[in-house]
Amino acid sequence: MSKRLYIHTVGCQMNVLDSELVAAELVEAGYELVDTPGRADTILFNTCSVRQHAEDKIYSALGRLKHLKEYRPETIIGVLGCMAQKDQAAIFRRAAHVDLVVGPGQLSRLPALLEEVASQRASLRQPRLEVSLYGIARSQEERKAGVPLLGTSSVFRGAAFPHDTACSRAPRAAWSWHMGDGFAAYDPPRRAVLRPSPGAAMVRAMFGCNQGCTYCIVPRVRGPEQSRPAAQIAAEVRGLVDQGCLEVTLLGQAVNRYDDRSEGRRLRLADLLERLHPIDGLRRLRFVTNHPRHVTAELLQAVRDLPKVSPYLHVPAQSGSDRILRRMRRGHTAQAYREMLQQVRQIVPAAAVTSDFIVGFCGETEADFQETVDLVRWGRFKNSFIFKYSPRPLTPAVELYADDVPEAVKRQRNNDLLAIQNAISLEENQPLLGRRVEILVEGPSKAARRRQADRRQAVQLAGRTACDRIVVFDGPPHLAGKMVDVVIERADAFTLFGRKDEG
Ligand code: 5AD
Ligand code: SF4
Repeated sequence: MSKRLYIHTVGCQMNVLDSELVAAELVEAGYELVDTPGRADTILFNTCSVRQHAEDKIYSALGRLKHLKEYRPETIIGVLGCMAQKDQAAIFRRAAHVDLVVGPGQLSRLPALLEEVASQRASLRQPRLEVSLYGIARSQEERKAGVPLLGTSSVFRGAAFPHDTACSRAPRAAWSWHMGDGFAAYDPPRRAVLRPSPGAAMVRAMFGCNQGCTYCIVPRVRGPEQSRPAAQIAAEVRGLVDQGCLEVTLLGQAVNRYDDRSEGRRLRLADLLERLHPIDGLRRLRFVTNHPRHVTAELLQAVRDLPKVSPYLHVPAQSGSDRILRRMRRGHTAQAYREMLQQVRQIVPAAAVTSDFIVGFCGETEADFQETVDLVRWGRFKNSFIFKYSPRPLTPAVELYADDVPEAVKRQRNNDLLAIQNAISLEENQPLLGRRVEILVEGPSKAARRRQADRRQAVQLAGRTACDRIVVFDGPPHLAGKMVDVVIERADAFTLFGRKDEG
């Protein structure tokens, strides 16, 4: 029997990569990918918990499937990823038609779990929960009793899971717990299924995060930092290049904390870049995301000296106010961030730097916000991602501080900062006018995909420069996955527009 899979992904590049890995494994196991839930018999949501909004969207999408499940009860609905780890059995309570909840540390079990669920008659199915125990919610009592958040197996010894009681299907649920080190590295072989761009692939350099920023859910849902052995990464990159990838992006929540000791000495990110650089056929090497405290001179020298390494650095600042940075426990001051940026400009003058900012964090005053505005004006980032603070359960900030900046103020600050950043992005794009840039073509632009143009005719294609600038131009679809030269004719804040250079 053919099995049809629909997978919906939200969240960061880690999640996009996880979905690619899951889809590839399932296609290998005989599934066919379909592009609407209506055509699928297995529907998976790979979820994000970083902001409330991302979770709300998933719960509404799940709500919309209730009807489908009623008239096609054999359909399997699964929730994967960060929200699975954070909400665990509470997902069954809010959406009783969900069959399977699998955390990001348990994705390697997914094919077997799906098979198990499929083998049961729909009316007899038990909801399956596969998550890591590490870092899940402590009950109020446990919190008061001082049970540590980064718990051990004793945290839930014999205790009912706090969410269970209200879950109607819980009594017959088959729980499966993973203790302590339950965040297993998910590392199946790479196959070019569902890869967003044929010439570019992501490779995980690190799993998890233990930076402990007070606003952030990631350490709770993705576990502690683990660096993958450099030899394993190099083998994967070689395999991807053999599949036609020209560009590889190394991923980690704080990728510049890469620290592999598997070879008897410490290999840092600069060493990893040096190791990967000679791989024949590899044209571009990038890495995201960087923590400002760990942008070292050695790393910047590697970016400068290794021509395949893109002069592009995403280094979130989050705020320009020391008071707020302290509350966020970022481990750096605004001045330290400025010094880091000065060092970047000094060692790699052509580098494009991008940042993330959170506005309206607990206790942020107008004066604090103005300090963030000053940093954005001073930093002249290529672009910044700006977010309104969203309190996340299980994070230190919700216990430590009140979410006291009104929503309207958060919105206003978000809009104001975005307007300032966009004006800078527009100015920063002007020097590119008339210049020839090399881009890696991703495929039809968003607009062309919407128009669904005739595949044989020239369509609007989109690609990226080494500096991560989006470039749009007209060309034949077969250029997807190739490097081409484009002359830039027009620029707005987010996109460069050009024509293919035939010379
Ligand atoms: N609220 C708003 N934005 C957040 N981010 C992380 N946690 C939160 C939160 N609780 C932002 C940070 C991070 C980016 C991926 O998401 O800016 O760098
Ligand atoms: Fe979202 Fe963070 Fe999970 Fe990525 S790691 S999917 S941003 S919660």
